[in-house]
Amino acid sequence: MRRLFFITLMSLTTLAMYAQLNNASPVDQKVEALLSKMTPEEKVGQMTQISVEAFLKTTNGKLNEPHEFDMPKLEEAIRKYKVGSVLNVGGNAQTLEAWRKRIETIQKLALEERLKIPVLYGIDAIRGNNYTLNAVLFPQQIAQAASFNPLMVQKAAEVAAYETRASFIPWNFSPVLDLGRQPVWPRIWETYGEDPYLITEMGKAAIQGYHGVGSAIDKYHVAACLKHYMGYSMPLSGHDRTPAWIPERELREYFLPQFAAAVKAGAKTVMVNSAEINGVPVHADKHILTDILKGELQFDGFVVSDWQDIQYLFQRHRVAKDNREAVMMAVNAGIDMSMVPTDFTFCEALVELVKEGKVSMTRIDDAVRRILKVKYEVGLFDSPLGKARDYPLFNSPAHNKLNYEVASECVTLLKNNNNILPLSSGKKILVTGPSANTMRSLNGGWSRNWQGDNSDETEKEKNTILEAIRYVFGPANVEYSEGADFSKLVNIRDVMNKAAKSDVVVLCIGETSYTETPGNIEDLTISSSQIELAKALSATGKPVVFVLTEGRPRVISAIEPYSSAVIHSYLLGNEGGNVIADVLAGKINPSGKLPYTYPRHTNSLLTYYHKHTETLKFDEAAGFNPQWEFGYGLSYTSFRYSNLKLDRNTLTDDSSLNISVDVTNAGKVAGKESVLLFISDEVASVTPEVKRLRAFDKIELQPGQTKTVSFTIDKDRLSFINKELQRTTEPGEFTVAVGGLKASFKY
Ligand code: BGC
Repeated sequence: MRRLFFITLMSLTTLAMYAQLNNASPVDQKVEALLSKMTPEEKVGQMTQISVEAFLKTTNGKLNEPHEFDMPKLEEAIRKYKVGSVLNVGGNAQTLEAWRKRIETIQKLALEERLKIPVLYGIDAIRGNNYTLNAVLFPQQIAQAASFNPLMVQKAAEVAAYETRASFIPWNFSPVLDLGRQPVWPRIWETYGEDPYLITEMGKAAIQGYHGVGSAIDKYHVAACLKHYMGYSMPLSGHDRTPAWIPERELREYFLPQFAAAVKAGAKTVMVNSAEINGVPVHADKHILTDILKGELQFDGFVVSDWQDIQYLFQRHRVAKDNREAVMMAVNAGIDMSMVPTDFTFCEALVELVKEGKVSMTRIDDAVRRILKVKYEVGLFDSPLGKARDYPLFNSPAHNKLNYEVASECVTLLKNNNNILPLSSGKKILVTGPSANTMRSLNGGWSRNWQGDNSDETEKEKNTILEAIRYVFGPANVEYSEGADFSKLVNIRDVMNKAAKSDVVVLCIGETSYTETPGNIEDLTISSSQIELAKALSATGKPVVFVLTEGRPRVISAIEPYSSAVIHSYLLGNEGGNVIADVLAGKINPSGKLPYTYPRHTNSLLTYYHKHTETLKFDEAAGFNPQWEFGYGLSYTSFRYSNLKLDRNTLTDDSSLNISVDVTNAGKVAGKESVLLFISDEVASVTPEVKRLRAFDKIELQPGQTKTVSFTIDKDRLSFINKELQRTTEPGEFTVAVGGLKASFKY
């Protein structure tokens, strides 16, 4: 009887499965078929990601260069532990050929296994395939955001995907969708800036570029990984991987929308915030990982931990007493894959936890299903490698030309007294400052290695700012003196002598490369050696043009008055030197606008979407008074805005509002202009921000030309998260502001 019952139950289950499968997509059917054959150990292996340095040969504790596999270790990972994913470069960038061999070796082993499941290799190709030598290094995300041009972001991502796939890698830990509103944080330059709408639009563009069109990812594209979900970017202290306090309403208002939009745009993987929010490490937060991400947002890809973050639950955060408890917490909270990164403690603990019933097989199956699905979607089962001949455009002139074009749209002119720029030819120029002659300050972190500290060697074929200025203005017109490094003055007498003989000084200041915890700082003010150098130069009476090369907006209020012009170049990448020289010469008309608010004071770090109580009107002594506001940026021409028109006075639930404005190039040279549309909700049940960016568009205008720019706004665009954590649009009065013009409407 019991047997009969069991058989009936089995057939019912099989029938149910079949019914389900018949409705399932072909990929889902393949995933189910494979999953049904897997042992618990094989499943747990798929959930394990190991960093490649765990299997590389070393000499005296240092990795052999070029890298060599320690085969017994690699075999242990694949054969014994059934590891499903590998990441990282292990130290320094490798050649394209070395990468291909690396992937071939790994996949060969994986395909010798019983189920022949290819390994999913993931890499931080965050603005170009930076861990492969010679791959194009585009501007970092913060610079790309300043372009306000999603099409440029998409094109750069397409090339990054192509060049990553050329190394046979199908998975990219990019884009960063963190809200860049804490300027002290050492990863602000990895973000698209402080505004959720700008991040959303740039994030969607990047995903489109990485994924290409259609649901499958072909051999020229990669799966994107949204990171770092969510709230990572706003540590109270500004220091990386330290606590944030973010109430859920604020999480939903400012931090979640960009992830929600990216999930909707088809993102396949998500990496988790390494830090804690409100006392809960996000790697252990079921509400954020499962309820919101997989439930509400219906994310059907997989969630990967960040570096060692499951182990950190007990090693650092102390919410778990040991590794087993940490693994249980994280997997039950919704982590599908652990970036362990260099041992097999995750696999061992998880297999035990499953046997003990502390992690259910349903949870494991869910995780593995998600991972296998992505492996199918990136085409790994069809072609686990690639064909070298498919990628003739790697580091091609076309890719490098695009890099120059993207960087040209990012560079931002913040000051230009008496139109001192562009510089007329024949001028005697002194180039000075710690970032004048180094690729590190143009590229920042994640450039051929994690901290980007060897890009002067790896990128020596590219032009530093000094080299490019010499090329553009002629070596006879250009003098150089270092003046200062980032911590002390260097031969100040030389720089003063050379300044005295020049017509203009180009002072390159900012930061060297860094990322993550090594980039933590105690003071947002630019370093004192650079302040001293700027002050000394100003005493010569020569006009000084500041070029800012920095990953975060270092406070320069003490020296800004000594500048005649300021060019902000963020981290412009490998074409940065050429672009800056061409901006100085007027060959490029700058069109970038600030993607964050540039602070004037270290204790006033407000965003443009601050509240009314934070304005000078009510906080007379220290209200919002930044050095430059979000969206600020000058041009060599001037744009006149006129004819702001709304096609109706009242927006309703089933209508939308058309807003148009005429923009005229009133100057003498062609230029590009980002038209930013801000809307203020005048009165709301949750204190409204003074304004929010609700739309933008970038246009190009010849001298004298006028274009009409139109935006369509519906009620959702005006919505906010109310006290009940619901998205809502409340009836009332709204003010539109664009290019200095204003108009009102009601909803
Ligand atoms: C970073 C991630 C990165 C990962 C893998 C972590 O330290 O936080 O952004 O993707 O390492 O390299």
